Amino acid sequence: MKLVTCGLPYANGKAHIGHLRTYIPADVYVRYLRLKGEDVIFVCGSDSHGTPIVVNAEQQGLKPEELVGIYHEHFQKIFKELDIEFDYYGRTDSGYHHERTKEIVQRLLNNGYIYPKEIELAYCPRCERFLPDRYVEGICPYCGAIARGDECDQGCGKHLEPGEILEPRCKICGTPAEYRKQRHYYFRLSAFKEFLEKYISDLRGTENALNYAKEWVRGELRDWCITRNLEWGVRFPEDEELVVYVWVDAPIGYISFTEKACEKLEKDWKEIWIDGNAEITHFIGLDIVYHHCIFWPAMLKGADYALPDAVVASGMVKVEGRKFSKSRGYVVWVEEDYLKSGLNPDYLRYYIVNYTSHQRDLNFSWHVFRDKVNNELIATLGNFIYRVMHFAWKNFGKVRMEVDGEVVNRIRKAKETIEDAIERWEFKEASDAFMELAGFGNAFFQSSKPWEVIKRDRDEAERTIASALAVVRALAVLAYPVLPRSMKAVAETVGMNPENATLESVLQIPEYVVVGKPDVPFERIDDEKMEELEGIMMKRIRDNTEGEMKMDERIGIEEFQKLDIRIGRVVKAEKVKGSKKLMRLEVDIGSEIRQVVAGIAGEYEPGQLEGEPVVVLANIKPAKLMGMESDGMILAADVNGKPVLLKPEKDVRPGARVR
Ligand code: 2FM
Ligand code: ZN
Repeated sequence: MKLVTCGLPYANGKAHIGHLRTYIPADVYVRYLRLKGEDVIFVCGSDSHGTPIVVNAEQQGLKPEELVGIYHEHFQKIFKELDIEFDYYGRTDSGYHHERTKEIVQRLLNNGYIYPKEIELAYCPRCERFLPDRYVEGICPYCGAIARGDECDQGCGKHLEPGEILEPRCKICGTPAEYRKQRHYYFRLSAFKEFLEKYISDLRGTENALNYAKEWVRGELRDWCITRNLEWGVRFPEDEELVVYVWVDAPIGYISFTEKACEKLEKDWKEIWIDGNAEITHFIGLDIVYHHCIFWPAMLKGADYALPDAVVASGMVKVEGRKFSKSRGYVVWVEEDYLKSGLNPDYLRYYIVNYTSHQRDLNFSWHVFRDKVNNELIATLGNFIYRVMHFAWKNFGKVRMEVDGEVVNRIRKAKETIEDAIERWEFKEASDAFMELAGFGNAFFQSSKPWEVIKRDRDEAERTIASALAVVRALAVLAYPVLPRSMKAVAETVGMNPENATLESVLQIPEYVVVGKPDVPFERIDDEKMEELEGIMMKRIRDNTEGEMKMDERIGIEEFQKLDIRIGRVVKAEKVKGSKKLMRLEVDIGSEIRQVVAGIAGEYEPGQLEGEPVVVLANIKPAKLMGMESDGMILAADVNGKPVLLKPEKDVRPGARVR
């Protein structure tokens, strides 16, 4: 038995092309496995928890479960329309999922892998609440970029533990946050280093994922804080005031959704997740490799569950050659841009698997899309299939299948290439192989000229059409996982059902084939349609990027003058105990000596700073860092995420204003 899963999409926004980069290839993989006769279960579902969902729901005046409901349905609809067929599509705010999560967390507690710890957490004095994850914004202690709660998503990409973020502010009201003590619970990831080293060396999957995982496991594995101060989530068994971190319960969805799929399919989920009698493959995006190759297997091991066999990570997506960005308009929304335009879902499936190797970056461009549809799908595959079916239907109806040996060899070769490529998750190679077979079929049909031969030798023409028809029947099966809708129609016209077919069956030639009246498998994308599609995207990009530069978003001189920026001189400097990044400075700003805590200890030594001039923003509201008040901000240039301090070009007295 095999289990295939896809990373759970957050039920917090609409489906876009970035999502499809994982789900379409996974669906293609599952369909190929089934054609090989494998018994496969395919599951996914909505990731319902986490602070972004709570914040978003609050902003929209909805309950979190209502917001999740909206996007849960949206994703289900999208998947159905794109023929991505899961055996079960669950949601993590369901009762059965909470139960499974609690059971696993309890096992981790019993096995000694979770321990309590008193930690300093960001707290908003105005909202009177702790600020978990996305409720807090501040500066990444590793690279200095703006960071949101639990990850530095605009800078170095590191996962941030509670209490790590510098200069924290409340995301809801903007007030500088304080740090307050609270008891939380940690997962002892550090205890799994040896296990993970061995596990990752045996793990299968795409190189991109495995290479990252190997590098991480060589470094330090820090314990993870796995509880949060939130109402929305799975209650932590030891302390009902807390919920578990979303990254604890989300992957457990793979298990709880398998349980539900197994109920439906009358199978035993424990065979898969406890006994380890199934091969488990996770399809994910490259941004969540750490969670799947490090954190998740450690959790499973710690709770005595079975381990995943392979992690398959897709490369990133670009749109019109630029970095994918929803806010800047470099995005393709699956429903409004694609499906509402009436485009065949198979075109997008083909584009996604055939543009490049699964691990590489994929660029989506409407021009390339049009060319791939018109010049490949239609010119090579569609035309060939249609011409053969039409000729056979019109002249014979029922064809005696005497097939050329060379043609059978070519079919065999395509089948073997596909089988081999699928083992390595090389979906481009697989789809190239069936396109190549179609190209061969085209050349064979063209050079045999059955439309001329039939005038003098009907039997010879029938032999030609029988060979061409064998290729069409093979294509209907070999291309079915990528193009299920179109190939199902083709298969039915040539007397097959790809849903019961196997890869082996492409080599089994029946005595006769009855050909029905064919339909054209694919419609061309004309220039008008192409301009319309491109127009929608270009307008969105223009609207969004112009927005970035709108005059009313610039500030006037009055606003600049509100900033009290001065020259200061460092009187005293010392590293903050227990912090690698923070330095406590006493700075003479002319009128007084101020204590400022700055994230510069990674780059500067105290001795380099004492007596040196610095540039200080003096009228910023005081903030607390590691329990210490910082009254002012030292200005620095951001050089690849590292601070480089600014200083005046000549000797200037402390207190001089910067204008
Ligand atoms: O990164 C994400 O979009 C997460 N919702 C993925 C969760 S995958 C799994 F672990 F459940
Ligand atoms: Zn607040």
